[in-house]
Amino acid sequence: MQAIIPASRVENIRYAIREVVGLANEVKASGMDMCFLNIGDPNIFDFQPPKHMIEAVYKAMLENRNGYSPSPGIEEARAAVRRQAERSKIRNIRDILITQGASEAIELCLTGLLEPGQNVLLPQPGYPLYSSVLAKLNAEVNPYYLNEDDDWNLDIADIESRINEKTRAIVVINPNNPTGAIYPKETLMQIIELARRHNLILFSDEIYDKLVLDGIEYTSMASLCDDVPIVTFNGLSKSYVVPGFRIGWAIISGPAELLAHYIEGVNKMVRARLSANHPVQYAVKAALEGPQDHIPRMLAALKKRRDITVSMLNDMEEFHCVPPRGAFYAYPSLFIPDKDEDFVKDLIRETGVVTVHGSGFGQKPGTKHLRIVFLPDEKLLERAYGKIRNFVRKRYH
Ligand SMILES: Cc1ncc(COP(=O)(O)O)c(C=O)c1O
Repeated sequence: MQAIIPASRVENIRYAIREVVGLANEVKASGMDMCFLNIGDPNIFDFQPPKHMIEAVYKAMLENRNGYSPSPGIEEARAAVRRQAERSKIRNIRDILITQGASEAIELCLTGLLEPGQNVLLPQPGYPLYSSVLAKLNAEVNPYYLNEDDDWNLDIADIESRINEKTRAIVVINPNNPTGAIYPKETLMQIIELARRHNLILFSDEIYDKLVLDGIEYTSMASLCDDVPIVTFNGLSKSYVVPGFRIGWAIISGPAELLAHYIEGVNKMVRARLSANHPVQYAVKAALEGPQDHIPRMLAALKKRRDITVSMLNDMEEFHCVPPRGAFYAYPSLFIPDKDEDFVKDLIRETGVVTVHGSGFGQKPGTKHLRIVFLPDEKLLERAYGKIRNFVRKRYH
């Protein structure tokens, strides 16, 4: 028999966050003391999900709600998501889909939209799932660059200049992964205006919307207009500390007459994949409507960890870090002669500190970055940044 050849479409599928893990595991096996600053999973550090969520799922399982659920999700969870969206002032809600993480919602909503050769405006840097899904659909990434000199804000003129006849949508990740930027209301209004003028649908990824630091008031993009189709992605993975539950959702809002065919198209796929995990959907109402006291605790810890990250990185002349305002990622610039990918690999080999290279998230040509997850506790972070400092001193001084 001949070797089984994979489809060429997988060539463009990259997920740098997990790609560094192979090397990290090899180094770990050699006995090196490791500091993992690469995976955005709060659960593996000192953050825990609220107990009442676990109890709700356990109860559902004991009551044998272990079969398939309705395809768009259980009514209880959809209603809780709707109430939460209404509290965030999202109007004209046309559909709510409960999915296997926000990831599945993203995949379903892009797949239901795009013909091969069409393109979507994606933030660079941004979360790499979007470009992988586009690769699978033979659709194109239309990159727009976030502006590091303006606290990683969106550059509206740059975005508009990239719209062409094959552009169908703009993705906004707010708070952003990997920069931690939160976009001002005025910027979001300008994006909405672009979508309105160019007949585009907006995808607003708000998975970090509760992890907002410095007392910033968060605005959900869909709360700012009634007349432009917007899909808002969110889920339990980050703010409710259960990424392993794989529960997320899409909220589709905007004028019914513009959205009816699209919603039916997406729902065809939703039905074909049967349902999201059933018993864990019972965590949604418990999460959104139960006690929220874990969130201020989480924010207080993240603020300290963010502050250590920014100050220790900015103490090194090879780094410049714009302070992240939300999520739990920092995305410092690197001023080094090497490629960021080589820097990351050598850092793992020599120090056991695992980060992800900026080229895995998309970055302006000629710039170099690292993504750092600042979820670990202060002691581990200080140890990791101390090791980075020794590494750059030895390598460049
Ligand atoms: C911006 C962004 N969107 C979506 C996801 C995926 O979330 P989920 O675990 O709900 O699939 C992540 C995970 O890191 C993310 O950073």
